[in-house]
Amino acid sequence: MTDAHAETLAGLTLEQKASLTSGADFWLTKPIPEAGIPALRVSDGPHGLRKQGERSEALGLGNAVPATCFPPAVALASSWNPALARAVGEAIAVEAHSEGVAVVLGPGINIKRSPLCGRNFEYMSEDPFLAGVMGAAWVAGLQSQGVGCSLKHYAANNQETDRFVVSAEVDERTLREIYLAAFEHVVRTQRPATLMCSYNKVNGTWASQHHWLQTEVLRDEWGFDGLVVSDWGAVNDRAAAVAAGVDLTMPGGGSDAPVAEAVRSGALDEAVLDRAVGRLLALIDRTHAAAAAGAGSDPAHDAHHALARQVAHEGAVLLKNDGGLLPFAPGGSETVAVVGEFARTPRYQGAGSSQVTHTRLDSALDALVAALGEDRVRFAPGFTLDDGDGGPDPALVAEAVEAAQAADVVVCFLGLPAARESEGFDRTDILLPAGQLAVLAAVAAVNPAVAVVLSNGGLVSVAEWQDEARAVLEGWLLGQASGAALADLVVGAASPSGRLAETIPLRLEDTPSYLHFPGAEQVVVYGETVYVGYRYYDTLDRPVAYPFGHGLSYTTFAYDDLRASLEPGGGCAVSFTLTNTGSVAGAEVAQVYVRDVEATVDRPVHELAGFAKVHLAPGASERVTVALDERAFAYWSVRDRRWRVEAGEFEIRVGASSRDIRATATVLSPGDGVPVTLTAMSSVGDWLDHPVGGPLLAEAFPVLAGDGSHPPSAFERMVRGMPLVKVAGMGGGRGAGARVRELVAAVADAAGRAGGGGDPR
Ligand code: BGC
Repeated sequence: MTDAHAETLAGLTLEQKASLTSGADFWLTKPIPEAGIPALRVSDGPHGLRKQGERSEALGLGNAVPATCFPPAVALASSWNPALARAVGEAIAVEAHSEGVAVVLGPGINIKRSPLCGRNFEYMSEDPFLAGVMGAAWVAGLQSQGVGCSLKHYAANNQETDRFVVSAEVDERTLREIYLAAFEHVVRTQRPATLMCSYNKVNGTWASQHHWLQTEVLRDEWGFDGLVVSDWGAVNDRAAAVAAGVDLTMPGGGSDAPVAEAVRSGALDEAVLDRAVGRLLALIDRTHAAAAAGAGSDPAHDAHHALARQVAHEGAVLLKNDGGLLPFAPGGSETVAVVGEFARTPRYQGAGSSQVTHTRLDSALDALVAALGEDRVRFAPGFTLDDGDGGPDPALVAEAVEAAQAADVVVCFLGLPAARESEGFDRTDILLPAGQLAVLAAVAAVNPAVAVVLSNGGLVSVAEWQDEARAVLEGWLLGQASGAALADLVVGAASPSGRLAETIPLRLEDTPSYLHFPGAEQVVVYGETVYVGYRYYDTLDRPVAYPFGHGLSYTTFAYDDLRASLEPGGGCAVSFTLTNTGSVAGAEVAQVYVRDVEATVDRPVHELAGFAKVHLAPGASERVTVALDERAFAYWSVRDRRWRVEAGEFEIRVGASSRDIRATATVLSPGDGVPVTLTAMSSVGDWLDHPVGGPLLAEAFPVLAGDGSHPPSAFERMVRGMPLVKVAGMGGGRGAGARVRELVAAVADAAGRAGGGGDPR
């Protein structure tokens, strides 16, 4: 804490300090003018600013000031382009400052555990590495302009069902490797100004009262020095929240008396309260002056609309393109039937607290007419945008069939109606509405040249209808420039370069969390453990509709000359040559996966550890380098409660998706060199393999060391698997227990002297 903050604190009464741990209203922190403490304004994000208008109902979801609606996280992450995420963060900061906003509540980097989560459109990926890298880039951009971010929702908030009360039951390894990893990456690399604790419980304890999460892991281990704000309404016990490390309860409006009373009764250490207030003062120092000065400045909406269109180009994923059906060249003469209401009325963002009031809205139909000419385009809505479960409307289908019959090619805009997905509830299936699929079938029956363009936030299954389409472009939700961007892709003004940030399964029943989502009776068990997304499908070699990382381009790429070499700090330098082997410009997302070939613990068959998005002119080549850090090789050891890298062979797999590996190389890791933590309950095998414990054990219990025969006898193998204390107790003779205790103490002593323990990073 700075001297200035200590002085401010010293001048505040206990009641004033307590009052600063909650907001003034929905969006402002409490000012104390006589102490020189201003109110700080926070606003929702993260795909655009949602600053609630002055006169709105409490949630005010439909009433925000106009702001650029960028592609939501589902599409931003599908761009696999951190530079674009950074640019979006910067742009949102400019708009935030123009509205006097100091902190934007984003990014959302929760893992997509199930495709059913109603809020998946607001989250990045099923993979923590990708979510972390894209989240970090967004934060870097936002914070480079002096606006604070709020990483959300921490932690294990992966569903909307019972989101205010559910207890996520997750083992520590799964938490560390999957659900905390993206947060850890952003905290360690970006110094985020704030982090938002989630509504749910984690293993039975409210996230808002979880000292281990909010203080021990977040601050003590990762070095977070910002402010923890509660999700709106997440705090159930004000004093317990402050004690756990939640500094600010939002929204305001409740009584602060419990916090002051807890200090008076001795239940809450005043120093802990002072620390929370100190963090608010630090946040004010960091973000308030620029926000106040920025109010009324130019929000640069025109430039940001252009940026939103560029991001949309890179966020859409071309799933299939048989015979090169797409693009429909503007220079050609083919006529195009544009079918589907989404072409005229775009679905471009999801519902809930992230809902932005766009500044402009492009429609794909207008943009296609502008690109191809009115004579070449005929539109038929095909269906309406209600829920779509009522089945097909015969008149609309007939009109679409007539348009398709008369045209050379058809582009069919299908998607999820807005009512099907939102913050606040989960979906129950991943199907497109039957009414829309009936239109597709009818159209495909009269014209085989059908391209489908999808608009959906959570993924939809394609297996049951994709044979009726020669091309499928997954447009996700692409923000306010969605229509123009989709038209650019359809006519080839831009080449698709998005890649799947989540696996598209064949059926909902195939998804790894299927048996455990969304739980019941306010408990959800993360029973699939670390096997989320491709970690599950690829490890078990299960068929999928489209794998993680998949996405086509209008050109093709070759990978050559892969090299991989371990670096002194435990990282690895990977390089290869990428060539655009087609005839148009395009971008490839080269993905690097790591496989622990000799793992002694169960691990996913491979995990994403790096990637590079490379734009190449036709015929051009580039030597690409990707730096992997030590974590790329590590797993969370439950036994040692730390990240571990095992010695042995690792395969570096480079390719265009998790199922399209184009080149592999092998590196031999010496391991992290940190001996395992030995206890009396450790197995004899662990003892014997230990550099210090092995010789000590052999001396104390020579019979356990075996006779060195290969292969070891069945007896030796049995003994190796038994806990030392048990073996010693059964056959070690008198005083064996004491000797085991001595061994444990000697090993602990040696580890202490060698400085063992702690995190390898
Ligand atoms: C959401 C947060 C949001 C907050 C403020 C909550 O319901 O979960 O993501 O930032 O409301 O609108």
